[in-house]
Amino acid sequence: MDLEVIVEGKNRLKGEVKVSSSKNSILPILAASLLGEGTRVITNIPLIKDVEVISRLIKALGIKVTYEDNSLKFAGVVSEQHPPYELVRQIRASFLVMGPLLARQGMVRLALPGGCAIGTRPIDLHLKGFQALGASINLSGGDVIARADKLTGNHVYLDYPSVGATENIIMAAALADGTTYIENAALEPEIVDLACFINSMGGKISGAGSNVIKIEGVKELGSCHYSPIPDRIEAGTYMVAAAATGGDVLIKNVIPEHLKAITAKLTESNTQVLEEDNQVRVSRKDEIRPVYIKTLPYPGFPTDMQAQFMAYLSRADGSSVITESVFENRFMHVAELLRMGAKIKTEGRTAVIKGNNELTGTTVKATDLRAGAALLIAGLTARGSTKILNSEHIDRGYENIVDKLKGLGATITRH
Ligand code: EPZ
Repeated sequence: MDLEVIVEGKNRLKGEVKVSSSKNSILPILAASLLGEGTRVITNIPLIKDVEVISRLIKALGIKVTYEDNSLKFAGVVSEQHPPYELVRQIRASFLVMGPLLARQGMVRLALPGGCAIGTRPIDLHLKGFQALGASINLSGGDVIARADKLTGNHVYLDYPSVGATENIIMAAALADGTTYIENAALEPEIVDLACFINSMGGKISGAGSNVIKIEGVKELGSCHYSPIPDRIEAGTYMVAAAATGGDVLIKNVIPEHLKAITAKLTESNTQVLEEDNQVRVSRKDEIRPVYIKTLPYPGFPTDMQAQFMAYLSRADGSSVITESVFENRFMHVAELLRMGAKIKTEGRTAVIKGNNELTGTTVKATDLRAGAALLIAGLTARGSTKILNSEHIDRGYENIVDKLKGLGATITRH
């Protein structure tokens, strides 16, 4: 369904906003719930599209799924080796069920994830990990078929600290015979959250958050009651929206440690960020100073914040440079920002954003959820009104974003 959002510009956001639980934590955690038996409860579930799709996928795998009091409850064990294509194809993160299904059933047939707007999104490192644990991998008719009578612990070196590959291998190794070491593992906070979730079911994972993760396989995993971490990218998006509009916003339910790179770049560009225990206050009164940004795996600057900063830096007092080193095609938002009068030149993975430039509202199109968020930020600062088409992309990862922005004084409607 084509949703559109209309936002009025020249708005200074003011007030308080509460961040929801992390989409990129919950998606692997929901997949990992397939490893458990007994009742697995995950609380503070945000009402976002991606979580709904993965929950339907888990139900299709034979798990009893109930949603009540903002929590998802899982009961029973998987009884399906071939997840339905019409669900799998809707979201790349579906591929995260491969590790748990291989660990639980020794066989899984799963559609190869399609690419998406930001790149081909290969899965070679996921498959390399499964093979290292003793699985045989075959490709047939657009599906990956993985088989292993019993997975056996091993050393896995990741050529690139892939978030998804690290997560999938952790889940496969959790029930393997023996111990697995993942070297050059991703360090993202969502990896730590996944390890804590599996340990809460009786897993034995240590080293998550460092580049060597040790997983001692256990016989079985049981029940749990778990609350995921707050969404650092949603938090960062509201921080940039406050900075871009020259507003003053208190962003609640955050872990400041997870926001270090975002805070550093906002501070460097003349925005004030005050950190407290579990909240940050963001305000800007002076001119935005141009900055250089290079996206990197955590704890480097997050690629999921690149588009939002590009919208913000369009109004800096000089030219900024952004290099996107994580994905090969994550400048889809540039063409849309150019329609609003931004002056951006891209060359390969580098974009030069000329500042001192007031944007003008017009009709634009969201190509992925972070590009959509960037267009919302651009629309909040532009002259006139901006209509964002395909705004359902934004709803994939931002709970109640229209209401949350209205609560900060934005003039915004959804159609
Ligand atoms: C996760 O994607 C996030 N998604 C992405 O967030 C995020 O941008 C990304 O990590 C990087 O932080 C979820 O957690 C659900 P990767 P993932 O594997 O796991 C290459 C958002 O907006 N690669 O770390 O797919 C890959 O091509 C989304 O919330 C291989 O070459 O990211 C890419 O260039 C977008 N082979 C790079 O690694 C592989 O087997 C990073 O990918 C796997 C990945």
